[in-house]
Amino acid sequence: MQITAIHAYEVIASGGYPSVEVKVTLDEGSIGVASVPYGASAGSHEASVLVDEDKMRYNGKGMLTAIKNIHEEIAPHLLGMDASNQKLIDSTMIQLDGTPQKSKLGGNAILAVSLAVARAAAASLKKPLYLHIRDYYQTGTDFSALPQPMAVVIEGGKHADNSTDLQEYCFSVLKQGTRAESIRIMLECYHSLEKILKENKLSTNVGNEGAFAPNGITSNEAPFAYMLQAIERAGYTAGQDVGFSIDAAASEFFSDGKYVLKIENRALSSIEVIEYFKGWLEKYPIVTLEDPLHEDDWSNWTAAKQMCDAHNVALVGDDLTVTNKERLQTAIDSQAISSILIKLNQIGSLSETVETCMLAKAHGMSVIPSHRGGGETNDTAMIDLAVAVGGRFIKVGPTRGERVAKYNRLLEIERELNA
Ligand code: PGA
Ligand code: ZN
Repeated sequence: MQITAIHAYEVIASGGYPSVEVKVTLDEGSIGVASVPYGASAGSHEASVLVDEDKMRYNGKGMLTAIKNIHEEIAPHLLGMDASNQKLIDSTMIQLDGTPQKSKLGGNAILAVSLAVARAAAASLKKPLYLHIRDYYQTGTDFSALPQPMAVVIEGGKHADNSTDLQEYCFSVLKQGTRAESIRIMLECYHSLEKILKENKLSTNVGNEGAFAPNGITSNEAPFAYMLQAIERAGYTAGQDVGFSIDAAASEFFSDGKYVLKIENRALSSIEVIEYFKGWLEKYPIVTLEDPLHEDDWSNWTAAKQMCDAHNVALVGDDLTVTNKERLQTAIDSQAISSILIKLNQIGSLSETVETCMLAKAHGMSVIPSHRGGGETNDTAMIDLAVAVGGRFIKVGPTRGERVAKYNRLLEIERELNA
């Protein structure tokens, strides 16, 4: 399984800017292709997305530098290497880069190569990617419970203008059954929500992730009433068939030591913002709460976790942990979270991502692989990863081509496993 060619090029991502795609060829003819996304509300501790800064192209957001790095810095070291030795491939690139956030070669460059190599190896082994990841990293997953949909249905924050301060309100399917059924339930609730928003004279335009972005909504709590009605009208029971997941993405509205809720004209301290969310956990069928606090507000995360534990709600780290093993370890040591969002491009290689997932699982945490809001491609590796590590949910927006590609991949895997 010798790598004989690595070819990188730009593809257009959902945000209308380019991203990186890589094609890896092996000596026996197998090919692996992978592209990577980027975030809209990226945490400051994430692996870098290296862009050209050439204002004459794509407002400076071209990816030609990352691509040049792949051809000139990465490929010369990887050509001839064994594609089945993913850990060595990834550690070679990490060493070549040598910076904590992969800012020299670009996390986007390294991850695209990492995933393309994994796909080429899987093709050579005649295995689907999820099976290759499961077997190679010995994750021990038995595929008896595939991840459930966590679909963003109302979005605000950095994902949509004039909507909520909080970034995401999701339907998380709880009902046991096939994932084909889970996806149908989620989409029926989504369509039902569309009708309800319309009846309430709210816009049903969608934001970055295909979720509604009701213009001019006047409180961050208002979405829950519509979401409850939507579930009921679709014929399901909130809290039993479908629960709520919130991603506050609080780093995005933290300013001068306060959590600034613009649409409510309030600025809250850490303690007050925990109380604010507590009120919701008491009233609504919330199953997960993500990033309720700033990414470096460590001491208050512990208090937030105690509050969530008391309500049987999973407290999820995203910008806090950025799929980074060291940050996860800090979160474990300080009892800051009970669940972790996973984004391959936050850390920038497949091996590091799987390691973080396994560390989380070893500490009893659920893992939730996620799409990105800024620029997604049609690549579906995040689904294979989620299946391979036994993710509890996948966070993926309900509509738009680059999002439904993920759900269709999950359906494909389910069919394959049941065949
Ligand atoms: P992003 O946000 O991909 O736009 O950074 C998604 C999230 O915060 O979960
Ligand atoms: Zn998030």
